[in-house]
Amino acid sequence: MTTARLLALDHIVLALVAVLWLGAGAATVAARRDRRTRLAALALTLGALAATGGRLALAVALSRSGWWFAADKLLLALPLVAVPALAAAVLSVPRLLRPDPAPSTAVPVLAAAYGAAGGVLAALTVSYPVPPVTAAFLVALVVTATVITRRRLSSPADPPAGSSTAAALRARGRGRRSTTAGIAVLCSALVWAGLSAWSSRIPDRLDLGAHHSGQGVRPVTGTRPVTDLRGPATGAAVRRFTLTARPATVILASGRRVEAWTFNGTVPGPTIRARQGELVEVRLRNAMPGLGVTLHWHGYDVPAGEDGVAGVTQDAVRPGGEFVYRFLAEDPGSYWYHSHDLSDQAVRMGLYGMLVVDPAPAPGEGPAEASPEETAGEPAGASAEAPATSPGAVSDHTVSVHVLGGVPTTAVDDRPPAEGLALLRVSPGTPVRLRVTGTDNARRTLGLSGAPYRISAVDGRDLPGAREVTGARVRLAAGGRYDLTFTMPAAPVLLSVDDRADLGLLVTPGPGAAPPPAAGPLLDVTVYGSGGLPELGSFDREVTWVLDRGLAMLDGAPALAHTVNGEVWPDISFPVVREGDLVKITVANRGRDTHPMHPHGHHVLVLSRNGVPATAPVWTDTFDVGPGEVWEVAMRADNPGIWMSHCHDLSHAALGMTFHFAYEGVTTPYDAGHASGNHPE
Ligand code: C2O
Ligand code: CU
Repeated sequence: MTTARLLALDHIVLALVAVLWLGAGAATVAARRDRRTRLAALALTLGALAATGGRLALAVALSRSGWWFAADKLLLALPLVAVPALAAAVLSVPRLLRPDPAPSTAVPVLAAAYGAAGGVLAALTVSYPVPPVTAAFLVALVVTATVITRRRLSSPADPPAGSSTAAALRARGRGRRSTTAGIAVLCSALVWAGLSAWSSRIPDRLDLGAHHSGQGVRPVTGTRPVTDLRGPATGAAVRRFTLTARPATVILASGRRVEAWTFNGTVPGPTIRARQGELVEVRLRNAMPGLGVTLHWHGYDVPAGEDGVAGVTQDAVRPGGEFVYRFLAEDPGSYWYHSHDLSDQAVRMGLYGMLVVDPAPAPGEGPAEASPEETAGEPAGASAEAPATSPGAVSDHTVSVHVLGGVPTTAVDDRPPAEGLALLRVSPGTPVRLRVTGTDNARRTLGLSGAPYRISAVDGRDLPGAREVTGARVRLAAGGRYDLTFTMPAAPVLLSVDDRADLGLLVTPGPGAAPPPAAGPLLDVTVYGSGGLPELGSFDREVTWVLDRGLAMLDGAPALAHTVNGEVWPDISFPVVREGDLVKITVANRGRDTHPMHPHGHHVLVLSRNGVPATAPVWTDTFDVGPGEVWEVAMRADNPGIWMSHCHDLSHAALGMTFHFAYEGVTTPYDAGHASGNHPE
């Protein structure tokens, strides 16, 4: 059984254990009433014992997938219920077999019920690692509840024969003391919860350069502000763009109008396309009333000062303001850009666009255009079809699927998004490259039917040994990019999204019926290419991100948050890295959601997924960690800065799953606190 299945089953058994023990407790209290109740109590207790054993077996099975999945259960939740359960098996079961069991028979059964309820609380609040204070409170609550119950059930109703009034008084005194102890435990738990809520508040001033949570800080020689880590001011060839963020009505290819937040009036914003070696210069202007805007180059490993994270690498550009980004286009590939201030809302509403870097022409191919200066302008015509391309030249297109104003749309290049299925005309025999980008929070299942194809690049990096597949499908992480390549046949080719015939892109050579969506096996890109992994050397640091969902204090209030190592933004710690460090990152997902993890400024090399080593170098910047999955990736610290790292389901990022990692000595003059007007998440 997969880890995800085991985790799901564990949730069911957890509830079953609690319900059975609570029922058994109630029935045992009433067991003296009649024979039927006593037998019911017996049956429920036996059932609860069996369910508890089942949960134990599940936890042991989970521990084989990784200690992260089982620690909370084996160290806390199960002992809470299993210890009293054992007492119930030894003491209560034999008594329930005989008529008229003493009231104290119910004590171990009720204790197990409290323990099982504690297990439910633990499942809600405890992730990995198990926090000692929370664990101590849960144990104390169960123990005091048990002590109080014992006092109640073995006192005054039937004082043992021969007991004196003094003994009865002593018993009453003990009862009162244990009640007081119970109230004390409860009160201190509440006070502690209040204190953690208070300390989780995001302050008015939050300096992420100083906020390194103390892990592994080494002596620092000299400091460098992110404002010094900027792209070059000039270059041999400069490609200039101006992007103005402003609200606009976007007219879909179908004519439907959607209110959106746009760059230059279009969604996606104008494609920024440059040639390797050129300097990209983008002037961002903000004409969004009342909203800060930035430009983050998703997947493009720019110098830190160009990364566009409000409150970390710059202040959000306020309405009427502007900011100029410059970086050298060195790495050919498919990327995208989006605002990184209140990203969840900004991206959803349309503040994003595509970024493509074309490889430098091979020697003899002739230089790029002499003076590649251009200014991205207003939207092009609203035609639904691109002109047919001639055979020979690559037909190269960006494709992005985005739910815009509640409508699933597909955008090709800079044309207005089509509702559902977009169309593209390509002559037979033409090599085609589709640069597909996931801009929504949800991952997408891509399929290509009508032609054999390759996944030639992942997240802007060519994939060695990408073999041709037919009818296969592949999952694209939210924020991730795949370059799909094929040679145009004489009949239409369908790029289907989420197995739908009416969402995606139909590439046609002319008339002809669309093929049905690909329905082949799901391809795992980590074992798709070939050639093996490069030798990296030994790791300087190893870190673990255990992803989960649970009750946590988020900015002063309890929330059903998305957590990393049990913590939420801005308290998730990450060691400070030194330039040159090779860092191994192990990511384990204990939760039931998929988390596309996105470290800024770096591509990471996938080492293994669920224990299976990658077959080719997959350099990714956004990798999808599904429920129960474990990924091992390597990161070379070769781009000094302060870098956000978060789940690219941006709604998860906003619910806590956001952190940052910093290089030794790098500081920021910017501030991410409540008073700053910056919202880096
Ligand atoms: Cu595409 Cu920090 O994001
Ligand atoms: Cu997530």
